[in-house]
Amino acid sequence: MTKGKVVDLFCGAGGASLGFAKAGFEVVGAVDVDERALETYEANLCGGNLLDEHEGEVSFDEPLRADLGRGYEEPPTDDDIPTIDFDDIREFFDLDEGEVDVICGCPPCQNFSSLRDTEPWPEDQPKDNLLRAFVDFVEEEVPNIVFFENVRNIMTAGDDEPTTYVDWLTRSMKNIVRDHDSQESGGYGVDLSVLNTANYGVPQRRKRTIGLFVYGRSDEEVSLPEPTHARDPGESDKKEWKSVSETFRRAEGLKMNLESGERQVGVEGYPDDKAHRARNHRQPTIDRMRAIRRHGDSWRDLEGTDDDHHIVDAHNDVEGGAGSAYGIMDGELPAPTLTTRCTTPSCGRFTHPTKNRGLTPREAALLMTFPRWFELPAQNDAAERVVGNAVPPDFVETVMSRVPESAFRQKTVGF
Ligand SMILES: C[S@@+](CC[C@H](N)C(=O)[O-])C[C@H]1O[C@@H](n2cnc3c(N)ncnc32)[C@H](O)[C@@H]1O
Repeated sequence: MTKGKVVDLFCGAGGASLGFAKAGFEVVGAVDVDERALETYEANLCGGNLLDEHEGEVSFDEPLRADLGRGYEEPPTDDDIPTIDFDDIREFFDLDEGEVDVICGCPPCQNFSSLRDTEPWPEDQPKDNLLRAFVDFVEEEVPNIVFFENVRNIMTAGDDEPTTYVDWLTRSMKNIVRDHDSQESGGYGVDLSVLNTANYGVPQRRKRTIGLFVYGRSDEEVSLPEPTHARDPGESDKKEWKSVSETFRRAEGLKMNLESGERQVGVEGYPDDKAHRARNHRQPTIDRMRAIRRHGDSWRDLEGTDDDHHIVDAHNDVEGGAGSAYGIMDGELPAPTLTTRCTTPSCGRFTHPTKNRGLTPREAALLMTFPRWFELPAQNDAAERVVGNAVPPDFVETVMSRVPESAFRQKTVGF
């Protein structure tokens, strides 16, 4: 018997779903709007693929492509994609009302960026439509547990205003009460904190807001698990952070010294791996990476050197990563946060620790703890997007396998 039934909203390519399955849950439904992400989800997680390896499973044949914005989005995501409610989810995945034990939700975060949303907004109306839509879904099913993931800025966004997003979220969740319950016995208690996934055994220092909501409990009764790993564990029983280099070394059959433009297909002595493909960088880009490596690990290290002409080029080429653009990853540490541009060196510290090229989609997926066999989209932009968007499966597994089982089934037993 699995630990409980999960519906994964905003499921992407299935990072969180895989984590739940690894922790012993049955994922009974998953919804997203992104076609490439859903193809990846289906190819890897559906059709009983996980059953041999894990106690849990994904028990449906295909995820649902739908708009979870519930019509709050103006304009809607795409007129051709249906906007749905929880009844539609039940119908598609053949679920009964109240059957779901856990809703997992990672509503995307663009509105929480510190640069957006400086306007005041009414206390009971968060500006972020997908957050509002997410609460509506929870209200329609009222599962025992809600697992929530978001960017860390959501913790402070709106600080100077009548309410913050998380205030609104926790208050709304407390007000959700099942028909036969009272306000005192119902509602969700929560532990909402910024966690660093490196402290939970992921080779990536990804700081995210994680919320664990449990129905019928007070906030004091709910707590996210303690870290299992540390940079310097000292005398504690924690393990040491996992590093980039050790992650690559441990990946079975991964060609380590791939150069710019090379891919691991038809390479003697190695199994084919289409996702282990390095971008074909222009020569000036390779020269810039080489110069940065000669003087340090960042374009700033070129200042005052005879290679400083590369600084101007770096600035001209920067697409996103600003100060960290073209930075070289430290192989002895967990990776920095991987973004949706994590194989593009101009967008962050995404240059390979020892090679003058960006990470391959496979390397990025390994740093996100996707398994070695996980298939990725053939297009680079889709591959880096679905990987950079994911919740690391091993992080979800670690957190969810430590939540006491009493929380899932017996609503009156202490948490
Ligand atoms: C942070 S990612 C989720 C990652 C996923 N939980 C995982 O672990 O791999 C957010 C997802 O929300 C999806 N999304 C954005 N707007 C949406 C909408 N209106 N309806 C449904 N999905 C949406 C995006 O396509 C993206 O896959």
